Amino acid sequence: MFVENQIYMKKIFTLLLIFSLSFQLSAKEGMWLPHLIAQLNYSDMQRMGLQISAEEIYSANKSSLKDAVVHFNGGCTGELISGKGLLLTNHHCGYSQIQSHSTLENNYLEDGFWAMSQEEELANPNLYAAIIREIKDVSNLILKGTTAEMDGATRDSIIEMNARALLETVKAEQPGLEFDLKDFFFGNQFLLISKVLYTDVRLVGAPPSSIGKYGKDTDNWMWPRHTGDFSLFRVYADANNQPADYSEDNQPYVPAQHLKVSVAGVREGDFTMVYGFPGSTNQYLPASEVANTVNEYNPFRISIRDKILMVLDRKMRADEAASLKYASKFARISNSWKRWKGEILGIERTNALEVLKEEEALFKQMCGAIPELNSEKDLVAEMDALYAKRVPVNMERYAYIEVGYYGIEAFRHVLGYSKLIELAEAGDEEALKNEAERMIKRMEGFQKNYDQELDRLVAINTLPIYLETIKTKPGPVVSKLQQKGSDKWVEAISDYFKDAPYFKEDFVTNLRKNPAKMAKKIAEDDIYSLSLEMYEHFFEVLNPATTTINLEIEVLQARYVRALQRAFPKKSFYPDANSTLRVSYGKVMPYEARDAVNYSAQTTLSGVMEKYVPGDYEFDLPAKLIELYENKDYGPYGENGKMPVCFVATNHTTGGNSGSPALNANGELIGLNFDRAWDGVMSDMYFDPSICRNVMVDLRYVLFIIDKLGGAGYLVDEMDIATVHPSESKTVKTDEAKSMAEPVKEGSQG
Ligand code: ARG
Ligand code: GLU
Repeated sequence: MFVENQIYMKKIFTLLLIFSLSFQLSAKEGMWLPHLIAQLNYSDMQRMGLQISAEEIYSANKSSLKDAVVHFNGGCTGELISGKGLLLTNHHCGYSQIQSHSTLENNYLEDGFWAMSQEEELANPNLYAAIIREIKDVSNLILKGTTAEMDGATRDSIIEMNARALLETVKAEQPGLEFDLKDFFFGNQFLLISKVLYTDVRLVGAPPSSIGKYGKDTDNWMWPRHTGDFSLFRVYADANNQPADYSEDNQPYVPAQHLKVSVAGVREGDFTMVYGFPGSTNQYLPASEVANTVNEYNPFRISIRDKILMVLDRKMRADEAASLKYASKFARISNSWKRWKGEILGIERTNALEVLKEEEALFKQMCGAIPELNSEKDLVAEMDALYAKRVPVNMERYAYIEVGYYGIEAFRHVLGYSKLIELAEAGDEEALKNEAERMIKRMEGFQKNYDQELDRLVAINTLPIYLETIKTKPGPVVSKLQQKGSDKWVEAISDYFKDAPYFKEDFVTNLRKNPAKMAKKIAEDDIYSLSLEMYEHFFEVLNPATTTINLEIEVLQARYVRALQRAFPKKSFYPDANSTLRVSYGKVMPYEARDAVNYSAQTTLSGVMEKYVPGDYEFDLPAKLIELYENKDYGPYGENGKMPVCFVATNHTTGGNSGSPALNANGELIGLNFDRAWDGVMSDMYFDPSICRNVMVDLRYVLFIIDKLGGAGYLVDEMDIATVHPSESKTVKTDEAKSMAEPVKEGSQG
């Protein structure tokens, strides 16, 4: 017995040693919960160069950096950079607001926009900025009544009941706040997050797209990068500094904290942290599901989008009107398409599947060595089996998502007529008339950016893939097409488009004159019938088929994370991104993308000029910028005669981190996150610090554009500018514990 124990201990010791070595390498990986930084990350961060206290980063009851970080309309991040509510985010995050204020005469997307006073700022209905008040662990309350042996569905229903009760209570107690209840580690942990929602957020400034979107889709996801991807807004509040809907009487919001902006710049090896709202990641997948993703899902989805993009590209190059209509659709479809391709390459290049399999073998050994984990030693194999079982149904789901949802525009559009058809069948004249008017408006909006011939080309190129893929209980229209044989499909689909009523000259007139008759016509139309059938098949057949598997997977993944935490108690684990506030940290670092290809960490304005192609759709530049470059008129923002533009670092980020502040060792703003480098976009599943890089605009370039190009230097005057690089401001902290306990000085961050 004793001897056996000794062998166990030795085994565990060696395993832990191997594990801690690999842990050292990836120490920069992770999207950490701000309220746990003091406990989990602080000493690591200090070792890497951080000079401020954990409490200055996040505090529940004092002002801290988190009060300057905002969730921008739920999908992006932004930060407050002045005592008057000035908010910085990406150009691509503010894009639809900038677009909504643009007209042919005042084309702010093309020419840029700079409010020269607060009166000139532009209001944006439906835009909000949320600031987190507090993050609280409520796992015990939420999990009360559940047991480890319960099946997923029962457990979920108990959790839902507990959650409802909790939310009701806190909402009644704190009526001014909004609450999110979020689950972490596959339902192992629950956090209650309170936040304040500001709904009067006005547009202050944006560079021309030739700067804010410089390089467009060609440079998207790429390094070296030369994009000034930023825009400026201002948050307003009522006379008591409380959130309020737009009113002329509102005043600029005075934040509890705003970021200091550093013009001291960045150097290789500098500590950086990114504070923001990453959307979603998959860090705990077994190797087998990562393999499914890069071998099955990604190639399949890419192959469908290849076809869509090919059709779009050909048309857009030949026809300027089409290129305007389809620019944003092209950008939307190519964004993930390009990322998926990068994921495949990144997983391959880093040998991720082998590394993950080794880690799984180690986990299994640990389970064998630790008696209480014996029951979990085949967990990964069980997960593998479930994920494998899901592949065929998921392929069908993706076929619908890519073809019926993202691909053929008419298919999505016509689904909107189901209400009209319903009302016509019910015979409610008045409601029918109103619905017809609503649909006419919708149709007019749709037509503005629609090209029917283009859509038909998308349909004949992609619908065949859908028809070939669907095997699970296809509906009658799909079955009939499938039986016809693939050589008949192109003609059949083309006929659908020829016969469809929506694109006929007199459609709107007829719909207005006789909605009941048109409703009947639509109900019998082939595009409508097929699209509705595909939609219902997705929701009634494919989704339910995955729901059961997903629930089982969720239970196993939860067990897996729990077991990992017990097998490797020294390691800190971070939960997958789920649109909650996180901190990532790393260093400004060059990287070797592949054999003999080494990338520097910083780009400059001369690189912007090297890419310049006059008149080009992606690489044109404003004359003013060229003039500033030729005169080297960089003001206080340049460094050694050069104007810094973008830089990369090893911060672990994902979609949703767009617009996040990148802070230096003193917590000062040095960069604005907007992308990742292509070689490392597999970091959503597997982070490798040797090639995973986040891409930021250098704050000095942002200030240079605002001041020198936009002539809006008064905005820079609003900010608190720091001029000393952290390496020169370094104070030797003799007593760390003392410095951590020190109260945050009011306004010490600006
Ligand atoms: N790749 C960046 C992000 O994921 C920027 C996307 C917007 N830019 C573009 N060219 N599509 O979402
Ligand atoms: N552009 C992304 C966004 O909009 C950030 C890039 C990434 O995925 O890391 O959030």
